[in-house]
Amino acid sequence: MDDANLHLDGQSYALPRLEGTEAEVAVDISKLRGQSGAITYDPGYGNTGSCKSAITFVDGEKGILRYRGYPIEQLAEHTSFSEVAYLLIYGDLPSVETLREWRDDLTTHSFIPEKMARLFEHFPQSAHPMGVLSALTASMSAYYPDSNEAEHVDLNIRRLLGQVKTIAAYSYKQSIGAPSVLPRRDLEYAANFLHLMFATPDVEYHVSEVMAKTMNTLLILHADHEQNCSTSTVRMVGSSEANLYASASAGVSALWGPLHGGANQAVIEMLERIQADGGDYKKYTELAKDKDSGFRLMGFGHRVYKNFDPRATILKEACDEVLADLGVSDPLLDIARNLEEIALKDDFFVERKLYPNVDFYSGIIYRAMGIPMNMFTVLFAIGRMPGWIAHWLEMRDDPDGRIHRPRQIYIGPTERDYPKTR
Ligand code: CMC
Repeated sequence: MDDANLHLDGQSYALPRLEGTEAEVAVDISKLRGQSGAITYDPGYGNTGSCKSAITFVDGEKGILRYRGYPIEQLAEHTSFSEVAYLLIYGDLPSVETLREWRDDLTTHSFIPEKMARLFEHFPQSAHPMGVLSALTASMSAYYPDSNEAEHVDLNIRRLLGQVKTIAAYSYKQSIGAPSVLPRRDLEYAANFLHLMFATPDVEYHVSEVMAKTMNTLLILHADHEQNCSTSTVRMVGSSEANLYASASAGVSALWGPLHGGANQAVIEMLERIQADGGDYKKYTELAKDKDSGFRLMGFGHRVYKNFDPRATILKEACDEVLADLGVSDPLLDIARNLEEIALKDDFFVERKLYPNVDFYSGIIYRAMGIPMNMFTVLFAIGRMPGWIAHWLEMRDDPDGRIHRPRQIYIGPTERDYPKTR
């Protein structure tokens, strides 16, 4: 296998070839500027490997997603979200005893300090729960001081993972002006979140098995996805040695946008718009093809997956089952299916390899479960938290790690004098 050779302005530069464990090839340009004075230009970072990582493998052409080597299909079927979180963060599946302790710890640390809980009252009722989640996640650093001691880092990880679901549920309760309830020690992570969302202090709430199982699957499917916008943001912020809470809060903000985690909310808004417009889905596929319309089919397309998104495949199947189990019939599901059918045959979408992504069916499932639309992206954030934590840890221990500081090609005015008279 040969190194790469770059010819630039009459000079030749050897660029080392790198290969990952799944035979992915990269050209190491880390010394390029020092040697040649040139930098690389890659807007959107589509060709840029920003780190070496042992957490998640994605093969977009083949539709493969593995956490620490385990296929997503197997994890979604056989594990719990807590176990997957442990796997992502610590690199291996926990023993039965370690898993029991880990689950207990996540519950023990899911209680929000009283003073912090009072912060919710200061947000307007109309506040978007993603804004509240981002603010409260960052505010955790005020309650739990930063420390580089391994023991403290582990404790902060448990606090963040334990409390993220409580913060999320409390932000929902605050938005509807309802009293919040405390987490329950007897419930697993996903079921506990549903309890926090839907229980009230005066009526006993039973978490249904279907709901708990579905929530567990959804959280697992969102748990990590290598270098996406929010995860790279967490690494970027963490590279300045910012603490875990500040870095995770930045991840929540990055996830919020409709091109990333906000797409699940945007999909339902789009389907409702089509429904309100008489259900004419063909009109909207045509609109998505017209670049001037500014309209995109939300829940379609992916930077990496160019064949199918394995998470969408799992969710499409789950969608039928869950709606049947919950006895819900949703007209938006028919519109979604029709859109998908048309788009998969249409040359515009086929040529650009635009397939439904993880967000296309997740919103319909959340709706059937009675989750309000502005909480969809929050659920993505809860699911993605173990991934962010795993990447933050890996970034800190990376021997090649440096503060992230990309370059740019300056295209502004060259030097000019400030006018003496103005
Ligand atoms: N509807 C219509 N056309 C699209 C769409 C879409 N959803 N997505 C991409 N295209 C077209 C785009 O116009 C471009 O066409 P052309 O080559 O003729 O200029 C081509 O496909 C490539 O698009 P791109 O914007 O360069 O692709 P990207 O890799 O930069 O963006 C994406 C990926 C996911 C942001 C984009 O596909 C998109 O906006 N999708 C809709 C939002 C969405 O569902 N986001 C969730 C992503 S999955 C979960 C997550 O990561 O959070």
